[in-house]
Amino acid sequence: MKQPPVVQRPKFIQTLQWVFRPMPYMEECAKHYGDIFYLKLSSFGSGVMVSNPQALQQILSNDTKQFSAPGETNQIFEVFTGKYSVFTLSGAQHQRQRQLMMPPFHGDRMRTYAETIAKVTEEIMSRWQVGESFSARTATQAITLRVIMQAVFGLYEGPRAQQLEKLLGEMLDKGSSPLSVTMLYFPFLQKDLGSWSPWGQFIRRREQVDRLIYEEIRERRANFDPSRTDILNLLMAARDEAGEAMTDEELRDELMALLTAGHETTATALAWALYWIHKIPEVREKLLAELDSLGDNPDSNAIFKLPYLNAVYCETLRIYPVGMLTFPRVVQEPVNLVGYDLQPGTVLLGSIYLTHQREDLYPEPKRFKPERFLERQFSPYEFLPFGGGARRCIGFAFAQFEMKMVLAKVLSSLDLALADDREVTPVRRGLVTAPNRSIQLLVKGERKVKSRNLETVSS
Ligand code: HEM
Repeated sequence: MKQPPVVQRPKFIQTLQWVFRPMPYMEECAKHYGDIFYLKLSSFGSGVMVSNPQALQQILSNDTKQFSAPGETNQIFEVFTGKYSVFTLSGAQHQRQRQLMMPPFHGDRMRTYAETIAKVTEEIMSRWQVGESFSARTATQAITLRVIMQAVFGLYEGPRAQQLEKLLGEMLDKGSSPLSVTMLYFPFLQKDLGSWSPWGQFIRRREQVDRLIYEEIRERRANFDPSRTDILNLLMAARDEAGEAMTDEELRDELMALLTAGHETTATALAWALYWIHKIPEVREKLLAELDSLGDNPDSNAIFKLPYLNAVYCETLRIYPVGMLTFPRVVQEPVNLVGYDLQPGTVLLGSIYLTHQREDLYPEPKRFKPERFLERQFSPYEFLPFGGGARRCIGFAFAQFEMKMVLAKVLSSLDLALADDREVTPVRRGLVTAPNRSIQLLVKGERKVKSRNLETVSS
């Protein structure tokens, strides 16, 4: 029986490495132990880390048979999203909830979000002044939070919406510090020592968020409007096999899952994209030439299909994937995984980051090179920023669409530049990754579409 190699370091040290420098740590382990190894942490997160595409294919295409994707292994999210969100549900309940939530995030529905995305991006861009600089991540987070709020609640304005937007932003910002993450990984630190203590502050903010969400749910139930197409309406109208509707608590947890997962990830990815585009002049030039070729007011579908924009989007999520890992999968029956014998109960973690850094797939993996996505096609187990199988990201089409629309809008409207040339590297931010420092962008002026293209439009 051949077992995966076990990383030979004390659990406590491994946990600290994992919390404070997850990416360099994964790379060190992969260099030493190869593309399948066993990481042992103090609490959540232990498991066999896999970055072998053949093994990932076996795991993700046999979800629910040889391998399950149980919600219990995602307990770490419970403090944000409660017990009843899609993150923490398992088996048939999980599948049913996913099916319920998929339609608003798919295909044709994207067009209906195009207008919202454009409007919100314009609102946020109007805050930027020529000659001044702004933080890329603060700006993209403002855009993605407002967009997901509109998708979840429909047209959503007024004091409650503003308060909810502010509190959610704060909750995630504060919850992303290394101290907060340490508290997530060491549950004994989760002590409410009053409103001044970090955990106490988190709990109080979460209570305020809950109060606002419950108020919204109650109001919407009292005045139910079947013609609305937002996600809250859809979830309120859903019935299970016994004809039961979702309870208020179930609705709250699901909304929290979408509001949190639905904006932080996309905001970070967009900030990285803006960084790379302005860091490498040829990338920006090629992208602008492609965008300009569509002329004034291009159709969202035409933007979505642009090949170089797509390559920039893919390379952004390849080089520093916002989600470092897939959610854990658990072995159900004795199984041989590319030569290793695994016993039932073994936890498997797909390392998206390590897979995307493989030299054999992505030569010079630390170089940002969109062309690699024009030169060859990667399988879903070689390029997997949204995971795969039974827990593949529900919002992947939404995120992809949103990123392309925001980039197209910002780049064609404004002439931007990086305010400084210092290097930016990825670090942990909460349970995902983000740039290690603020990426400041300078607004140099407004952009005009070249007359050549305007002629194309008018002809
Ligand atoms: C660039 C943006 C995003 C990235 C990189 C990302 C990445 C991921 C990854 C890696 C997973 C785990 C997949 C697995 O275990 O196989 C996931 C799950 C999930 N994502 Fe995303 N995501 C993004 C945006 C979004 C958006 C916009 C939404 C919602 C509007 C969303 C909602 C979810 C949900 C609900 C799950 C859990 C699915 C389940 O447990 O069945 N994500 N995402």
